[in-house]
Amino acid sequence: MPPQLTDPWTLGGVEVPNRVVLAPLAGIGNWFVRLQAKRYGAGLVVSEMVSSFAVHYRNERTCRELLRIHPDEHPVSMQLFGHDPEVMACAAERVAAAGADLIDINMGCPVPKVCKTGAGAALLDDPGRAVALARAAARGSGLPVTVKLRSGRRPGDASGVEVARRLVDEGGVAGICIHPRHAAQRHAGRPDYELARALVEQLPVPVLVSGGLHTAAHAREAFERTGAAGVLLARGSLGNPWLFGELLGTRPAPPEREEILAELDWVIERACEHLGRERAERYLRKFYPWYVERLGGTGALGAELQRAPSLEAARALLREHGAPETPARGPDAAPPAPAVPAA
Ligand SMILES: Cc1cc2nc3c(=O)[nH]c(=O)nc-3n(C[C@H](O)[C@H](O)[C@H](O)COP(=O)(O)O)c2cc1C
Repeated sequence: MPPQLTDPWTLGGVEVPNRVVLAPLAGIGNWFVRLQAKRYGAGLVVSEMVSSFAVHYRNERTCRELLRIHPDEHPVSMQLFGHDPEVMACAAERVAAAGADLIDINMGCPVPKVCKTGAGAALLDDPGRAVALARAAARGSGLPVTVKLRSGRRPGDASGVEVARRLVDEGGVAGICIHPRHAAQRHAGRPDYELARALVEQLPVPVLVSGGLHTAAHAREAFERTGAAGVLLARGSLGNPWLFGELLGTRPAPPEREEILAELDWVIERACEHLGRERAERYLRKFYPWYVERLGGTGALGAELQRAPSLEAARALLREHGAPETPARGPDAAPPAPAVPAA
């Protein structure tokens, strides 16, 4: 009997209660977005990518905001990026001290600003450094290390497969997450699940699959076709934490309008806790359209919310559109915000 998405598994000795994982999402995957995924059942959550240099050099905002872990998030993996093994070792030590259960290293980011430093997907062209970074992260943190990578850098390039093998054989990584699109594709195009399947068959460690998992049907199909240990939900989870429950069978029906609006209200409150009201106002502008889309709206409400002069005005608009006065709180509503780890 093949594994089910609801089956528990272990990753580098860390027990994970199911196989539905929140993917790393830069600028999005902070503690409260991860906590939200957890509330809806995610077995494991991965942070947005964090610069190993910023952590090493104790950038105040990075350490205060991006290394923040909520006590209810565990198990949580913190994703680091960088190109210097010594810096990576030091950053990994700090990430472990902040409470991470696992470390993931980004070897898939296609953004030129990242690649030109030799980090992200550029590491696919530099397997020796990739291995050194993985070993350094494990040495610095004492935690299991995984790597998320692409199939290659450009069309026809399958360097990701070879790098993944070396990361396991020489770098001792505990798992691989494959996003089987080449880096030049960024996030467009059909993921190559056959390549993911080949990797699953070759590697002696768990392989997770990412890419194109925007609906429960897509995620189930990729899970079955690749034989992966688990699936990473990325864009499909934006404004749709219910997707976790749908995949895990705990969410038989889509959320009603009131529930969607109450969830958005939860997000607004957490964003204020995270960033303070002023920064939250700007930060939330990218979140509104995701939730409005779930409401089946035309986008006009999303635009109105983005233009709202204050959070009070945004909330008043939501109430006009059916949000409850006092938002309904599910049984898993978040407890108070966690203490901030020392910078
Ligand atoms: C806005 C955005 C931010 C992302 N940030 C990261 C990141 O920080 N680290 C990473 O490894 N992948 C990142 N990714 C890639 C996703 O984790 C995922 O692999 C990709 O979106 C493919 O999955 P999807 O097609 O289901 O969205 C990002 C993707 C998006 C859309």
